[in-house]
Amino acid sequence: MNRQFAIDVRHGLSQSPKSLSSKYFYDERGSTLFSEIMKLPEYYLTNAEFEIFQNQGVDLIQTLGIKKRNYFELIELGAGDGYKTIELLKVLDHENFKYQYHPIDISQKALDQIESAINKQFPDKKISTKKGDYFQMLTELKSSPYPKIVLFLGSNIGNMEDAMANTFLKKLSESLSEGDKLILGTDVKKSKDIILPAYNDSQGVTRDFNLNLLERINRELDANFDITQFVHFPEYDESEGVARSFIRSKISQDVTIKAINLSVKFEIGEYIKTEISRKYDDETLDTICHDTGLKIIGKLMDSRQYFADFILEKQN
Ligand code: AVI
Repeated sequence: MNRQFAIDVRHGLSQSPKSLSSKYFYDERGSTLFSEIMKLPEYYLTNAEFEIFQNQGVDLIQTLGIKKRNYFELIELGAGDGYKTIELLKVLDHENFKYQYHPIDISQKALDQIESAINKQFPDKKISTKKGDYFQMLTELKSSPYPKIVLFLGSNIGNMEDAMANTFLKKLSESLSEGDKLILGTDVKKSKDIILPAYNDSQGVTRDFNLNLLERINRELDANFDITQFVHFPEYDESEGVARSFIRSKISQDVTIKAINLSVKFEIGEYIKTEISRKYDDETLDTICHDTGLKIIGKLMDSRQYFADFILEKQN
């Protein structure tokens, strides 16, 4: 049994309102479902960021201010399948830049996938995959005397509440030296008509992704959630710029989670908060960068202005 999962499930389902952390979406089934989400027509985020990397690689390199003669470390946090980063590597290689690529992920499967994608694209390239916690790996890389460029893409930062994102950036900044850069992928605030379908697709993949949290509790903690009695419930608050996902109980019901000896009562219509996906504009990003030692020095957007990659520089 994953002890931390058990502790967090007990805590989250004993609170009012009930909540479960979105970090638990990503078991094997959840990761497969997330790969499917990224290919959905409604989930524009992945393609929009891909377009930035595909069409604006040269501008990106220029904003980063890297010199061809200076070797650097390119570090990606939560690299996934590397689909977007490969576009950047193509430009860097074409222009003869000297660097080492270090994808960091907690999943060995993700690292194996990225390694095979890179080997296919660049048969001679050596990459240095790092399995583990982002900060532990960044601390290891801190002793490197070379400049660093860190990638944190896909609007993964948006799954953190603002205060948590600020703490995360502070910690990340501590692992960097003056002049190092961060490329931060962020989904942009926009109309509800565009954002809500991204979290409520017509094929129901996002619904399955959200409800998989309950199925994971059934599998790992011997619970008896009847998935047919819960619904996926997403919303987007346009004034705040925050999408939230919930799981809503259709009926009044009791659920038993045997492995942690817990019985949970749901009222009819009661919600479990499962995810926040914050959307950004310059002001919101300024807020989460406050006191982090990171300064925004550039921003690239896709042709529809749906997604932004901000370039941040570590100050002294
Ligand atoms: C990983 N993360 C940035 C996704 C998002 O858009 O918040 C996770 C996701 N949740 C539902 N669909 C995708």
